[in-house]
Amino acid sequence: MIPKWFPKHPPLYDISKTYAENCSKGPFFSGEIPQRDPPKNRVDFLGHEVSSLIGVPAGPLLNSKWIELAGKLGFDIPVYKTIRSEAHPGHRLPNVQFIDALGNQITNPKTIDQLSITNSFGMPSQSPDFLLQDIERANRSLSEGQVMIVSVVGTPNRGLSFVSDFVKTAKLALEGGAKIIEANFSCPNVEKADGILYQNPQTVHEYTQIIAKAIHPIPLILKVGRFESAHQMKSVFLAAARGGAKAICGINSVSMQIHPPLDEQRKTSGVCGAAIRSFALEFVREGKKIVQENKLDLILIGCGGIIKPNHFNDFFDAGADVSMSAAGMMWDPYLAMRYHDSISHP
Ligand SMILES: Cc1cc2nc3c(=O)[nH]c(=O)nc-3n(C[C@H](O)[C@H](O)[C@H](O)COP(=O)(O)O)c2cc1C
Repeated sequence: MIPKWFPKHPPLYDISKTYAENCSKGPFFSGEIPQRDPPKNRVDFLGHEVSSLIGVPAGPLLNSKWIELAGKLGFDIPVYKTIRSEAHPGHRLPNVQFIDALGNQITNPKTIDQLSITNSFGMPSQSPDFLLQDIERANRSLSEGQVMIVSVVGTPNRGLSFVSDFVKTAKLALEGGAKIIEANFSCPNVEKADGILYQNPQTVHEYTQIIAKAIHPIPLILKVGRFESAHQMKSVFLAAARGGAKAICGINSVSMQIHPPLDEQRKTSGVCGAAIRSFALEFVREGKKIVQENKLDLILIGCGGIIKPNHFNDFFDAGADVSMSAAGMMWDPYLAMRYHDSISHP
């Protein structure tokens, strides 16, 4: 019997503590690791054999200790949190707040179904020296049938062009032993100042081509957010495939006005969890259609609002090749085990 975690236990990430404290003292998990029935078949994921196509997207897994726990708890495709080419401090507290479906701050969700949060971290990153060792440790902590993705982002004004800093970070990940790299394109387009990187097909094509070539033959995934239109989404998917991306992961948290805002400087912040599930499912349905109609060689990774085991299936049914949970796994770390259990004992 898989133990119940929410609401009895606090989340793996202590939202009252700083990011640095969560890195050094977390994950805050005191439960048992349930036994897992050995999976009958392995499946291919970007050239790696995995026991299942479920995982944790970039964010909640701050370092190798978090990756190790996620792996033991049955998340077979964990993503190492977005890293930068140099150490970066990130935003001050608060970094996470509960909200309701309308974006109003609340003290606590009554049931896990209502779990929605806003988060604002500013993508903090550890030093390259730490990362080199820690990515290696994280890889070593996984079992057979599991593979880790490392998420990377470029940082402007580091003496390199934005895309060159993306490449520098990707190479750092490779040096640490990354087997698959995800480029976080859901960040502001600092060079063209025309919104968010993933929304511009020309930039997506140019950046993808440069990064994919630099890391070849390691596969490149692009992390994107919600698109403004189906037309924009199609142009970006075509650009990504032409540029050499092997997969697209979406959606990132959705920027919304929070009431009250986190602080004066942060009038809007990213929302994840239940409040964005319908957007994420819409993304997956449309994405699948684009991939099929245009015969694109792209794997589709869906995330956004997966909080209960059956939600993984909702994403697979909508057309996702891989389904991942961020907020859901932080509040119910047994989510993957419940899913595996539901598959082996339907
Ligand atoms: C605490 C937290 C930190 C996150 N940090 C990142 C990040 O560094 N890079 C990234 O690409 N996405 C980040 N995300 C976004 C998630 O990868 C995911 O796209 C989003 O949370 C939607 O999934 P969910 O509803 O399952 O949480 C973060 C999410 C959370 C909850």
